Amino acid sequence: MKNSFEQYIDIYLKKQRKCLISDAMSYAMEGGKRFRPRIIFAILEGFGIAKTKGYDAALALEMIQTYSLIHDDLPAMDNDDMRRGKPSLHKAFREDIAILTGDQLLNDAFRVIGESEEYDSDTKVSLITALSKYAGHDGMIYGQLLDVTVDDKTIDKELLDEIQDNKTGGLFKISCLFPMYIAGVKEEEYFTKLGSMIGQIFQNQDDLFDLIKTEKEMGKSLNDKKNNKGTALSVYSLDELKELIEEEFKELDLYLEKACFDTDRLKELLKTLKER
Ligand code: IPE
Ligand code: IPE
Ligand code: MG
Ligand code: MG
Ligand code: MG
Repeated sequence: MKNSFEQYIDIYLKKQRKCLISDAMSYAMEGGKRFRPRIIFAILEGFGIAKTKGYDAALALEMIQTYSLIHDDLPAMDNDDMRRGKPSLHKAFREDIAILTGDQLLNDAFRVIGESEEYDSDTKVSLITALSKYAGHDGMIYGQLLDVTVDDKTIDKELLDEIQDNKTGGLFKISCLFPMYIAGVKEEEYFTKLGSMIGQIFQNQDDLFDLIKTEKEMGKSLNDKKNNKGTALSVYSLDELKELIEEEFKELDLYLEKACFDTDRLKELLKTLKER
């Protein structure tokens, strides 16, 4: 039995006009870990707000996440054939369909928030602005630009930080800011930094797992080394990176002590990240 957010995603997908892109959208959305939505729910609950209030915001963010992965896997980007435990979208459908499906998910994400009955107009403006900012020029797209323009020889620690803070931190910042806006709280600096810290850990782990885990375990192609990608393992040894991740979890724990919401749920979720 799917959980209620997965059911919510299914209902949304079934509402789409049936065509090749709606089939491709359903295929691509299926199988994600939904880590960013779960951050939204954990923080909302920490504010004493039901997680269902965050469903539209979380759906929109997960649509952006899915589009970013579809495009990230394309031959012109990372050229990866496996994603979410099955062939990447451009392999299962076609490259042109994958590009268009990514484009549609990006556009429709904003529509989901615009048409939501859960948020007032001011909240919608805040959500849409944060989404475009951190998925775009001040986040994911800028990070992806840096990612495709460096390699394992040209990257250094400073550049690595900048890549991670944007390409991955961008969507994690959104996952922390969304519940803050929904709760009507104004602590942008705190929640942006929180997203940045979680994103950094997440991408450091992802780069580590690219080397030490199997494609079956991760459900995706692991080709960083073969593709000479500039990753955390281009600037840290395996042991240094493991130590850095440990250190970052400790810093995150300390940072959470200053939070203005009950952090129990978020800490539970972060524990699953630590143990993955
Ligand atoms: C993959 O994100 C992209 C990275 C930032 C490493 P996830 O590992 O959250 O992928 P899904 O959404 O669960 O497929
Ligand atoms: C990409 O990082 C993160 C995105 C913004 C899509 P990676 O290229 O390392 O993500 P994976 O390993 O393919 O999931
Ligand atoms: Mg990539
Ligand atoms: Mg990739
Ligand atoms: Mg990776």
